[in-house]
Amino acid sequence: MAIEADIGLIGLGVMGANLALNIAENGYPIAVFNRTAEKLRVFADSAGPLGERIIRAGTLAELVAAIRPPRAIILMVQAGEAVDQQLEQLQPLLAPGDLIIDAGNANFRDTIRRARALDEAGLSFLGLGVSGGEEGARYGPSLMAGGTEASYARVEGILDAIAAKYNGEACCARLGPDGAGHFVKTIHNGIEYADMQMIAEIYGLMRDGAGMSAGEIATQFRRWNDGPLRSYLIEITAKVLETRDPGSETPVTDLILDRAGQKGTGRWSVIEAQVMGVPATAIEAAVAARSLSALKTEREFAAAAYGSLGSSSALERASFVATAEMALLAGKVTAYAQGFAVIAAASAQFGWNLPLPAIARIWRAGCIIRSDLLDTIASAFEAEKEAPNLLVVPAFVRIMQKAVPQLRAVVSDAVGSGLPVPSLAAALSHFEAYRQSRGTANLIQAQRDFFGAHGFDRTDTAGVHHGPWGLAVSSVSPAAMLDGPTRSSPANSGPVEE
Ligand code: 6PG
Repeated sequence: MAIEADIGLIGLGVMGANLALNIAENGYPIAVFNRTAEKLRVFADSAGPLGERIIRAGTLAELVAAIRPPRAIILMVQAGEAVDQQLEQLQPLLAPGDLIIDAGNANFRDTIRRARALDEAGLSFLGLGVSGGEEGARYGPSLMAGGTEASYARVEGILDAIAAKYNGEACCARLGPDGAGHFVKTIHNGIEYADMQMIAEIYGLMRDGAGMSAGEIATQFRRWNDGPLRSYLIEITAKVLETRDPGSETPVTDLILDRAGQKGTGRWSVIEAQVMGVPATAIEAAVAARSLSALKTEREFAAAAYGSLGSSSALERASFVATAEMALLAGKVTAYAQGFAVIAAASAQFGWNLPLPAIARIWRAGCIIRSDLLDTIASAFEAEKEAPNLLVVPAFVRIMQKAVPQLRAVVSDAVGSGLPVPSLAAALSHFEAYRQSRGTANLIQAQRDFFGAHGFDRTDTAGVHHGPWGLAVSSVSPAAMLDGPTRSSPANSGPVEE
C-alpha cells in the first residue's frame, strides 16, 4: 500500500527542497510538488535514501490526495503574488480543517489578510518565518510561527524535530496569532541588515583606513569569533575574507562588486518601525546603505567629482583593531535593542503578547543572526520583564559602559578619515540621545508652536501651552495666541501623536 504523507510541501527551490529533505530525514513522510516538473525530477534524484519517505506529486490534486487528512501543506514559493496564486489554486482542492503553512518571507500584513480569508473558508493558516539560509533549511533552521494555538499544535512535533537545537532546546516557537511569526522574521532580517552592515563598516575602516589586506582582516575576525562577538556572521565573514579566487589567487572579496541587492524584508522592518514611531536608526541606516550601494554609477561620478576630499588612510592599525571589537559590540547591542523595541511596540499595537525572551531563545541557533549575545539577551529579558528597552537592562548597561567609549573612538576615527560608518554612527547617536534625560526637543516644541501653534508641554506646569513669541505673534493665528492650558498633557513617553 502506498505510504501516506504526514505533510506536503509546494515549491522545490533551494529552501523548499532542503526543508523537505530535513522533514524526511526526521522520519516524516512528505509529499512534494513543484510547478515545473524538471525541478521535481532533479529534487527526487538528489534525495538518495530519503526518497523512500518522499512522495512525488505530479499535480496539486495528487499532492492533496497523498497527504493524510486533516492535511498540513507547506508553501515555499516566492513571497508576494505567487503565494496568493498558489492559495487560489490549492483552496478548491482542500477540505475544512486543512492547514496551509506559508514558510516564505511574507509581509506580515499579507499573512494577516490571508489568515482571515482562509479562516472564512474553513481553512487554517500558519505564517512561518524560517531563517538559516540553505544550510539551516536542510539541517536546522530557526522557526517563528504565527497562527492559532490549535493550528500550531498540529505541526509542532514536525517543526520541533526539524528546527535547530540550542543546548537541546528546539529553536522553534509559536509567537502569536496570524502575522506574528512573519513580523518577527521581518525584524530578524532588519537586525541581520544592521549586523552585516556594521561588520562591513569595520571591514571598510580596516581596508581603506588601516590598509589591511583581506587575509589580515580575516585573521582579526577569526580572533573576534572567540570573544563577545562570537556569532555566525562574524564566523562567515572570516571565512569569506580568507577565500581566494582559484584562478588568480586574489581574495574573492576583492573581486566582488560593491553593490548588494535586497529582497524587501529589511525595508519592511524600518517601514513598520516608522509607522509605529519607534526609533530603529541603526537598522534604517543599514537598509539605506544597501540602497546606496546599488547606486554604483552615481558613486563613480561622485568619486570623480570630489576626489579624495581630505580622506586619509592613516588609521593606526594596532590601536584601531584594539578598539574595533568593542565598538562593534556596542553598535550591535544598540541595533538589537532597536529591533526588540520594534517587536515590543508591534506586540502592544496588534495585541500579540510577543514573548521577547522566547524570541531571543529561538534566535540562538539556526538563524542568520545566531550568536552568544542572544543567550545573554534571552536571560536579560527573562530577568527584567518590565524593562522598557534592552539598553536599560543592568547586564547591558555594564556592556555598554565598557564598549561605548570604543564606539565613539571608532566613529570619530572614521569621521576624521572621511570614511563612511552610517550604521555605527546611527547606533552611537541613538545611544547618546537615548541616555540624555534632557534632550533638545524643547526647542523643537517651541519651533512648532512658533510656526504652527501646535502648543507645548512645560517642565513646571501641566497642560498644553503656547509661547509669547514677541513680534512674530502678529503672524500667528489668533487661536495660537491663547496662552495657557487648552487640553490635557500628552503621555510622557513614546511617540506623541496629535
Ligand atoms: C534568513 C535570511 C533569508 C534571506 C534574506 C536575504 O534569515 O535566512 O534572512 O531570509 O537570506 O531574505 O534578504 P536580502 O536579499 O534582503 O538580503
